[in-house]
Amino acid sequence: MAFLSDTLARVKPSPTIAVTNKARELKEAGRDVIGLGAGEPDFDTPENIKRAAIAAIESGKTKYTAVDGIPELKKAICAKFERENGLSYKPSQITVGTGGKQVLYNALVATLNPGDEVVIPAPYWVSYPDMVLLAGGTPVFVEGRMQTGYKITGAQLEAAITPKTKWVIFNSPSNPSGAAYSRDELKELTDVLMRHPQVWVMSDDMYEHLTFGDFEFVTPAQVEPGLYDRTLTCNGVSKAYAMTGWRIGYAGGPEALIKAMGKVQSQSTSNPCSISQYAAVEALNGPQDYVIESRKAFERRRDLVVAALNTCPGITCPTPEGAFYVYPSIEGCIGKTSAGGVKIENDEAFAAALLEEAGVAVVFGAAFGLSPNFRISYATSDAALTEACARIKAFCEGLK
Ligand SMILES: Cc1ncc(COP(=O)(O)O)c(C=O)c1O
Repeated sequence: MAFLSDTLARVKPSPTIAVTNKARELKEAGRDVIGLGAGEPDFDTPENIKRAAIAAIESGKTKYTAVDGIPELKKAICAKFERENGLSYKPSQITVGTGGKQVLYNALVATLNPGDEVVIPAPYWVSYPDMVLLAGGTPVFVEGRMQTGYKITGAQLEAAITPKTKWVIFNSPSNPSGAAYSRDELKELTDVLMRHPQVWVMSDDMYEHLTFGDFEFVTPAQVEPGLYDRTLTCNGVSKAYAMTGWRIGYAGGPEALIKAMGKVQSQSTSNPCSISQYAAVEALNGPQDYVIESRKAFERRRDLVVAALNTCPGITCPTPEGAFYVYPSIEGCIGKTSAGGVKIENDEAFAAALLEEAGVAVVFGAAFGLSPNFRISYATSDAALTEACARIKAFCEGLK
């Protein structure tokens, strides 16, 4: 009898964490490596949030809490949804988990039966397919090509839906492409979903606050109120407030689903960290200066990286609307050989040779379900980004 489960055998470890670890190992071995793999803001958590956490510790808020979140935080989340998204949820429609990741996972575990399909637009965040597989479902991919801004169309969504479809996972702005759907683009998708009443919508709005220029962020239940009763609107404080290590994510949705998700959490991890919950109350209710400042910095870096990458022979880099990622195509590099003698047969070979020969760590596109591409996280200093882009350019110029 095998010791490890069949379910686990269907799941692969996170390629983004693997790249981050590999870059760290090379650095520790004395190599000059610039890591552009990690998906987290390089800024520190704002002072007011840290102080709220310290106050929580000092006042003894260090015990178990209600499984799916303290009332103060649920109230702050309801206010956030109302204020920023025009969505009305009662506290009983809110769940809080240990990061956005747990919230999404709870929803899938609570609802998927073997054979249930989950539509996932590609390129996708690496964890969606594996979470679906862990929960016993079947991922179904729809490709958003570069020509359509890495977004899927209504016709593509329509074609992917079958009687077995239970969820569509929607992520705008997207990790890894940075693509964000305008109101009209999203309406095209919600119109399709209105014709399929058995399909639920899981909207992962983790990068909501990171959209640039005058782009207006919108979420499905807001664009199509007819979907409110079958939409789980997911969000978190990780990316918006530089709180990745604090592990607080949340969602609003129909009460029965929220209750079912709480049941999963009650028998797995129980409440998210009490101290982090009090910090998240301050993040949502307190001053929002950090959100504005970080958006400005990320927009500047996006422009820097897009401009620099588009001077690299063989690379085409569209300008994304949001998040802190770019997802350039390396179509023009395929079939060439690097200065170090590596044949660039696919994006995995490109990323491996780039790390080895130029000391730049990026994540290859196949990990996100759309090739030949790579992802750069530009959540690092302007100086590191400038140097990394110069190295990528030299590497591409060396391809023969
Ligand atoms: C699209 C997307 N959703 C969810 C998450 C998970 O966020 P958290 O760190 O809060 O679990 C991430 C983190 O990288 C993400 O990129």
